[in-house]
Amino acid sequence: MHAAAQAPIGVFDSGIGGLSVLKALQAELPHERFVYLADSAHAPYGERGDAFVAERTHAIADYLVSHHHIKALVVACNTATAAAIHEARSRYAQLPLVGVEPALKPAVAHSKTQRIGVIGTHGTLGSTKFASLLATVQGQAEFVIQPCKGLAHAIELSTIQAPAGDHEQREVHRLCVQYTQAMGQFGKGQGQIDTLVLGCTHYVFAAEDLQQILGPDVTLISTGEPVARQTRRLLEAAGLLASSSKAVLTESNRTQLLTSGSLIALRAAALRWLQLPAHACAEALTLR
Ligand code: DGL
Repeated sequence: MHAAAQAPIGVFDSGIGGLSVLKALQAELPHERFVYLADSAHAPYGERGDAFVAERTHAIADYLVSHHHIKALVVACNTATAAAIHEARSRYAQLPLVGVEPALKPAVAHSKTQRIGVIGTHGTLGSTKFASLLATVQGQAEFVIQPCKGLAHAIELSTIQAPAGDHEQREVHRLCVQYTQAMGQFGKGQGQIDTLVLGCTHYVFAAEDLQQILGPDVTLISTGEPVARQTRRLLEAAGLLASSSKAVLTESNRTQLLTSGSLIALRAAALRWLQLPAHACAEALTLR
């Protein structure tokens, strides 16, 4: 086994959305260590434009490689994947890199009505990468594409203000209702949308809300598990899977969470979504 195999896997998002991917990675790869970076000082990415998002992606990748010596990078953000993964692959040719994209193919395989909804940020759904992805499934189903301006941001805020029923939680609910209503009828009847692709990692944290709004006949599809399996495959192929015989890892000693923004917010999200203690979180002080 490669010596670098004991190095951590880097994971990043514009904020807390990528924690939904991290959770799947922790389950799939129990012997690995992770460094998660929430770029909350620059969130949301969805309405910032490709050049900005690409610049952030490269700054974060440089930081994780040089300060944390990561052995692989998971871009746990659809928007950053769409804007920057292509260039990142050539900049970090030696680094196993995994991105996330809306799970259109699994949705086609699942849908019975062949009418599929896709929600995501403007950045993701307006990208040429998404257009190419859509072209690969054209003709196999009808797609109703809905950018959800403000939803990722509202989810970030609702996590900080934990108690359900408060203003931020209601704002998430209001936006979910507004955007799904704009997409048409949901359900398992002919012509109805029976499958909704969550094309932004933040939206996984609104899944309960969405399911309650859309009803039990609608299936929500996210990408955490397939991304985790793909990460395992890449590490295996590179001989970089961590050995299971090293020191016992617990969730809190194998995962370090960093933020470019508010530490209080990250701690609230870590506790709420991953049951990680405050000491697992810190500020990414040297990230530019
Ligand atoms: N979580 C991100 C995504 O998957 C970005 C949300 C945002 O910052 O706008 O697209």
